[in-house]
Amino acid sequence: MTQSRISYTKPSITELEVRYATDAATHGWGERCYEYIDRFEGEFADYLGVRYAIATSSCTGAMHMGLAACGVGLGDEVILADTNWIATVAPVVHLRATPVFVDISPDSWCIDPCAVERAITPRTKAIVAVHLYGNLCSMKQLLALGEKYDIPVIEDAAEALGSVYVDRRAGSLGKFGVFSFHGTKTMTTGEGGMFVTSDATLYDHVLTLSNHGRSRKQAKQFWPDIVGYKYKMSNIQAAIGCGQLERIEELIVRKREILNIYRQGLAGLAGVTMNPEPEKGVNGAWMPTVVFAPETNVTRDGLQAAFASENIDARVFFHPLSSLPMFTPRDNPHAWDIPGRAINLPSYHDITPKEQARVIDVIRAKFRA
Ligand SMILES: Cc1ncc(COP(=O)(O)O)c(C=O)c1O
Repeated sequence: MTQSRISYTKPSITELEVRYATDAATHGWGERCYEYIDRFEGEFADYLGVRYAIATSSCTGAMHMGLAACGVGLGDEVILADTNWIATVAPVVHLRATPVFVDISPDSWCIDPCAVERAITPRTKAIVAVHLYGNLCSMKQLLALGEKYDIPVIEDAAEALGSVYVDRRAGSLGKFGVFSFHGTKTMTTGEGGMFVTSDATLYDHVLTLSNHGRSRKQAKQFWPDIVGYKYKMSNIQAAIGCGQLERIEELIVRKREILNIYRQGLAGLAGVTMNPEPEKGVNGAWMPTVVFAPETNVTRDGLQAAFASENIDARVFFHPLSSLPMFTPRDNPHAWDIPGRAINLPSYHDITPKEQARVIDVIRAKFRA
């Protein structure tokens, strides 16, 4: 008999989010059309420990506006890790700047600060730190580089809600941070994102860009001062976000619990590494990921086949961006080597201990083979 399917992610939506969304759909129009958006932005900024937040239709849109506001454009270079989803680099390309992909550290799977320093040129306009799968970038070193060369360090914290670097939340340390509330993320609004910063000038600029170039100081109606963007979040999405934010601790605790069950279940297997816990701080554990040492001979392709035959979704570790057809291959050994011997594991909020045991069994069986 085929076992039930185990999905890799699914959101946790309760009566609270349904109630808020229903209220927004019923009453949140006319002069009340921004109520949940304002509330969501304010509460998110407080939660993160930043001064300003702008709710957006996606994290990609938030990154696009932030980079544009930092002046990224034709002839500029933006340094980012080769290991990532394309969403971070797409805005760089749209702004006609050149992405410079550098290698990752083999222990954090995040951007290697030494590789960043080697890649800096007079044309470097920004360094983007992506906290991969909830793991934290070496922010101290990256921020020091930013200061030394006078280059803004930007945080893509799409996957790092709940992650804490020493004593500050991921996304709150750089010039600006961006978050994703896509349905696969720790908290969701269906689609959606957030731009955050504590820089008043940058906030004003992005706010103007986000409103089709209309400054909030502009008294004339329908008068854009510049050509901007339309990446706004709807009030109904923000209502769901308010509900999720009230439950944020519960959502993160559960993510961490799921990661720990995998850690315990795989303990004792030689050559198996999972998301590292920072010495000081917290890994928000968005995506439990396993990397197998070369001597284990466990491969992504072998694992994918084994998971598929057990009706379990498993997700590949990101391909190096520089391996994609629109970019030029880069010599980044870790980013090119790790994906072939790694896998993301299912981690949705309501996954049961039995389901996690099925996932663990598939991996353990590879070591008995
Ligand atoms: C690291 C990273 N950055 C950006 C994004 C883009 O998020 P969104 O789909 O909300 O634009 C994602 C989402 O998959 C992501 O994982």
